[in-house]
Amino acid sequence: MITVKDLTRRIGLMMAAAVLVPLANAAPSSTGMPTDGATTEVADGMALYQEHCAACHDGQVPRAPHMITFSTIGADTILNAMNNGVMRAQASALSATEREVLAGFLAGEAMAPPKPILACADPMGELASSDATAMQGWGGNAENHRHSDGAGLDRNNVDQLALKWVFAYPGALRARSQPLVHDGVIFVGSQSGDIYALDLESGCAHWTYSAGAEVRSSLSLGLVPGRDDPVLYMGDFSATVHAIDASDGSLVWRASVGDHPDATITGSPKLHDGSLYVPISSSEWATAADPGYACCTFRGGVASVDAASGELNWRAHVIEEPAVETGETNPFGAARKGPAGAPVWNSPTIDAERGVLYVGTGEAYTSPAADTSDAVLAFSLATGERQWAKQLLGGDAWNMACFIGEAANCPEEDGPDLDIGASTVLWSGGERDYLLVGQKSGDVYALDPDKGGAVAWHNKVGRGGFLGGVHWGMSANGDSLFVPIADTTITGRFTGPVSPGIHALDPTSGEVRWYTPSVADCEGKSPIPVCDQGMSAAITSTDQLVFAGSLDGNLNVYDSLSGEILWSFDTFGDFDSVSGDTALGGSIESDGPVLYKGHVLINSGYQFGARMPGNALMVFSLPPKADLVRSTRSE
Ligand code: HEC
Repeated sequence: MITVKDLTRRIGLMMAAAVLVPLANAAPSSTGMPTDGATTEVADGMALYQEHCAACHDGQVPRAPHMITFSTIGADTILNAMNNGVMRAQASALSATEREVLAGFLAGEAMAPPKPILACADPMGELASSDATAMQGWGGNAENHRHSDGAGLDRNNVDQLALKWVFAYPGALRARSQPLVHDGVIFVGSQSGDIYALDLESGCAHWTYSAGAEVRSSLSLGLVPGRDDPVLYMGDFSATVHAIDASDGSLVWRASVGDHPDATITGSPKLHDGSLYVPISSSEWATAADPGYACCTFRGGVASVDAASGELNWRAHVIEEPAVETGETNPFGAARKGPAGAPVWNSPTIDAERGVLYVGTGEAYTSPAADTSDAVLAFSLATGERQWAKQLLGGDAWNMACFIGEAANCPEEDGPDLDIGASTVLWSGGERDYLLVGQKSGDVYALDPDKGGAVAWHNKVGRGGFLGGVHWGMSANGDSLFVPIADTTITGRFTGPVSPGIHALDPTSGEVRWYTPSVADCEGKSPIPVCDQGMSAAITSTDQLVFAGSLDGNLNVYDSLSGEILWSFDTFGDFDSVSGDTALGGSIESDGPVLYKGHVLINSGYQFGARMPGNALMVFSLPPKADLVRSTRSE
């Protein structure tokens, strides 16, 4: 499908188009350009882009995909982002025709459509009701240790891992739904909203299910009274939770958990004791960039849903008071509303003994920042009642308006946007428990779950930044807490010494046992989006090993005691996929490695701004199986 070469070629095309159009004063639809067919379309598209999109997509807004990556997502996806997706507000001034012209222009020349996925010839075997070898769901266990029993991998054999096969997510430029393996079948979501059940041996698909909106979360799997086959659960970008039969992908139930038009699910729902606990985030932080938008009203929260029926048990908010009009207007005359913000985009941590769950929250969207932003909150599992809140950073209010010229809805605090995005880790030190928290600021905390979240220890191991500090997920084994640090230099906002890489901490004191810096492996990798050595994705540990990926595309395995790198694989580049298509590997970001019976699974490619796009699910195995290897590597 899309190759790095295509991307590079596209940069050339875009540069050429840019020369065609006077950039500064381009008007929406009349450009004064020659009126012969194709040239006019390119010119009109470019003018529309300059007027309505370029302010953010030329690299100024780090999270916005760079213009050159649009060519790889296809016109339909771009159109959908404007019509129904995250760019609704940004495209609201455009007519239907203008949107089509723009989408066609940005998508560029027709790319070869993705080849169909490979369907399995043999039916899927009956699924066992339990599979103790699997690291289940996002956190691996209720307490989010992201710990595996090793799956047959250890210090002595891990260097024999070899690539077994690669799956290309069709039509995707990011791969971020962490796979779940059960009884030899991989269940995974995708950017297109399709859920795949892939055979672990061959990568063929037993079934697919379409959620209809992007699935960013990992799937959870469980048994439900009255059903023989296990049920899979996941959340999608439109804040809908889906329960599907793991044996054939048929729908069991579907339920919306959001109570805001911009609500989304990014963090992975957690299945526990017959209930599904769903973190609720939103895209209102992006809608706020529209100066005409009455900003902001999203409250953040967690919902509990009955796993058998999909009925809502309760919904708890991060900001308890609903937003109201403040009586003020922004410079464009839109009403100001608040308080708002504090999304939850981490998978809840279940504390069965205390009957509570914990979540970390993000920044506030409005000023003054709510006192539950950048906080850890404890909610009753049974009722959703808040038990305690421990704010770790006050006064952090930010939304996308802060990035662009008129900044009409930017709160006066203007950041620093240092969410608690990684799941908290509930770790037992024998006599007492520690709730371990990592923040985008690079701070790591241990909170006391018996004392309302009082800080037991604190250590700052990263400078922090746009992708953290700690971004998506730490891991703990019986001895150590492993902390990935991104500390990217992608935006100039954060300054000071950086410490990207893996840090091993004593979970009882926060003392650093070892630190292995991440060294950039960026030569020959695309300059836009940026290649960076930071470790932003979630990581996974065993008693002996730590598995961690970096934004430059490398997957590393560390010795858990010394921090020595025992094995490494560069996932960047083009790979032959099982369907005969080309899979593109890029940044490893968001989700983390999964271990299962001598296998390691990793997603590669993440199209959001300043990270390298891709659509690859890679499966490595022991012992080596050399029948499918790296094909061409684009330099
Ligand atoms: C105010 C800044 C801003 C403007 C203006 C803007 N965008 Fe975006 N765009 C973003 C950000 C930020 C994201 C990433 C959103 C996210 O992370 O959820 C994004 C994402 C996208 C995506 C990817 C959606 C996805 O699901 O991955 C597309 C396509 C897109 N924008 C197209 C456009 C087009 C076309 C325009 C012009 C009509 C436009 N954008 C204007 C900031 C902007």
